[in-house]
Amino acid sequence: MKVCIVGASGKTGKYMVQHALDRGHEVVGVCREQSVAKLDEFIGRMTVIGGATNDRRVIRQAVAGCDGVITVLVPRGVQGYSRETAQAVLDFAPPGARPVFSSGWHISLDGQDVYSRRLRFKVVVLGGIAKLLRAVDLDDQVEACRRVFASDTRWTVVRGSELEEGESEGLPVWSRHVGDPILGSNITRRTDFALFMVAALENDALIHEAPAIVGCRTPSALAYADTGGPPTDH
Ligand SMILES: NC(=O)c1ccc[n+]([C@@H]2O[C@H](COP(=O)([O-])OP(=O)(O)OC[C@H]3O[C@@H](n4cnc5c(N)ncnc54)[C@H](OP(=O)(O)O)[C@@H]3O)[C@@H](O)[C@H]2O)c1
Repeated sequence: MKVCIVGASGKTGKYMVQHALDRGHEVVGVCREQSVAKLDEFIGRMTVIGGATNDRRVIRQAVAGCDGVITVLVPRGVQGYSRETAQAVLDFAPPGARPVFSSGWHISLDGQDVYSRRLRFKVVVLGGIAKLLRAVDLDDQVEACRRVFASDTRWTVVRGSELEEGESEGLPVWSRHVGDPILGSNITRRTDFALFMVAALENDALIHEAPAIVGCRTPSALAYADTGGPPTDH
């Protein structure tokens, strides 16, 4: 596949680039001009396009001819960066391509997620402070995902748990709803979050799904695997 990775220079994006190359995909990465050097380790193995990810001309050029487009959807600033990035990808990804977006558990597809007090505190209080400081706008990411869900593309939105660095443990497990016991450990290796998104490009069962993921070696994932576990959607 020819795969575009929007936000390729970040921590998650670089793992995505490596996983995509490992799978034999041709990779085009988009990142801000000042971040192009962060992709030096991949020189000669991918194409890099420098520019803001919410610049429609940049996205139009980058996604041309791609079979898959993975977007690291970041709610940076309060200028609608996330929604503009998502909209550009939705508008310019070739018909039939697979667009895959990253987000967190706070995004809900159907309103059936059950959130812990800790997560609600983080979103409402810490998210509110970050917005007041004009650093991060979680509402922008919510709006971006609303547009993705409403689109007629073959989208997947991958909702990450809390993330940690470390060696890959394998493909995360997932469920449709936060609050399902299999997700209880709420931790995933960042490299495996990236792996899930790259693998999603070739998994049609994930089209029009918003899988909430957790590491496959975490206690909650293992408990589910060992016992047959409580009913979940996966
Ligand atoms: N962090 C977590 O614990 C966590 C948990 C669950 C889900 N997620 C999801 O994972 C994805 C990755 O997020 P992340 O926070 O972990 O970081 P990340 O993978 O390091 O990615 C950060 C991205 O934001 C870009 N960026 C940084 N400053 C920016 C600015 N001022 N304006 C525009 N873009 C800017 C970076 O680009 P440059 O390389 O150009 O700086 C990079 O592409 C997001 O979709 C997030 O919702 C994260």
